[in-house]
Amino acid sequence: MTPDRTDRNACDGQALYPRGPILAIESSCDETACAILSPEGEVLAEKVISQEAHAAFGGVVPEIAARAHLALLPDLARKTVEASGLTLHDLGAVAASTGPGLIGGLIVGANFGKGLAIALDKPFIAVNHIEAHALSARLPGVSKKNISFPFLLLLVSGGHCQCLAVEGIGRYRRLGGTIDDAAGEAFDKVAKMLGLGWPGGPQLEALAKKGNPAAFAFPRPLKGRAGCDFSFSGLKTALARQIEPYGNTALPRSVAADLSASFQQAVADVIEDRVRHAFAMMEPPTTLVAAGGVAANGVLRASLTRIAAEHDVPFVAPPLRLCTDNAVMVAWAALEVCHEAARRGLPMPDDRAVRPRPRWPLSEMQERFAVQAEAV
Ligand code: KG4
Ligand code: ZN
Repeated sequence: MTPDRTDRNACDGQALYPRGPILAIESSCDETACAILSPEGEVLAEKVISQEAHAAFGGVVPEIAARAHLALLPDLARKTVEASGLTLHDLGAVAASTGPGLIGGLIVGANFGKGLAIALDKPFIAVNHIEAHALSARLPGVSKKNISFPFLLLLVSGGHCQCLAVEGIGRYRRLGGTIDDAAGEAFDKVAKMLGLGWPGGPQLEALAKKGNPAAFAFPRPLKGRAGCDFSFSGLKTALARQIEPYGNTALPRSVAADLSASFQQAVADVIEDRVRHAFAMMEPPTTLVAAGGVAANGVLRASLTRIAAEHDVPFVAPPLRLCTDNAVMVAWAALEVCHEAARRGLPMPDDRAVRPRPRWPLSEMQERFAVQAEAV
């Protein structure tokens, strides 16, 4: 992905921080990932390992994830540097997801990154993982046109389900989010009930292609309600009720396919309604952006494309490798923060003192520039 040098995302031609490529680390859940980007956002190398040890448990086991990050990270970082053709000394900065997420993995990734930054005497950038998802669509080359602010982000993954008004770097307004399960979590739990493997979303989508989305009249939780909160637990219960009569006998494949298609349609309808409300809750956005693993779902993408067209804005979903957890988005978010600091006439940030946090609300991201400005 070669960035356009005239790209407005890449710092408006001002002095670029950092003064060399950035190595980023992602370890907030069950993906161990490293990437190296040039200061302008060109991807020089990227590697990701999706930990497989969790499949047997039907969900991510935090302790296993943390140990796996510890075992995998040093070699993965070395191979990423090798693949970039650079040496560690060519780097201009190191970044890592520092929250929110599973604290064991965050401690491993952030401390590895800080250790490397200290050893190389380079700045360390602490990245908010949600901010990284939010900004991933602005990575040069992802969309045909630059995505300018404000844009509307739908973040739908295994752990997150929320709508954000992205008004600028560090300026994120949460318009609504799930009051129970995340969308991906609901897909995974329902897939488990249907006897499918984990993660369930992709398998449920494949089975749904053989089913009838109108076969079961599932509820559309919160549809039509003010705001843009989400709820999926009632939908999950409604599906469980349909399975009950089969007891211990295996579900006929055709019934499982109809259940999958009907469930998927209900989720897409609910998300469509909630996103329509989100449009009305912010200044007209330039773009509708979707990120997170569930954004890979074809039926959901069709709904989102339709809503974007209704509002006369483009719909952008980064390619799947950038939608799911990855280190390219972490590096890009760190670069956006550095570019924003440069734009504000602030020095290159250095977050060695920032500690990993399991919770890190986006509303706090604006403070980083205020704190930096005070220190100058
Ligand atoms: O973003 P992601 O890789 O990891 C985090 O949760 O952070 O998202 C994974 C989630 C899983 O719940 C998975 O079942 C869901 O995304 N998913 C899908 C599809 N592909 C992945 N859900 C529905 N349809 C899909 N095609
Ligand atoms: Zn994520």
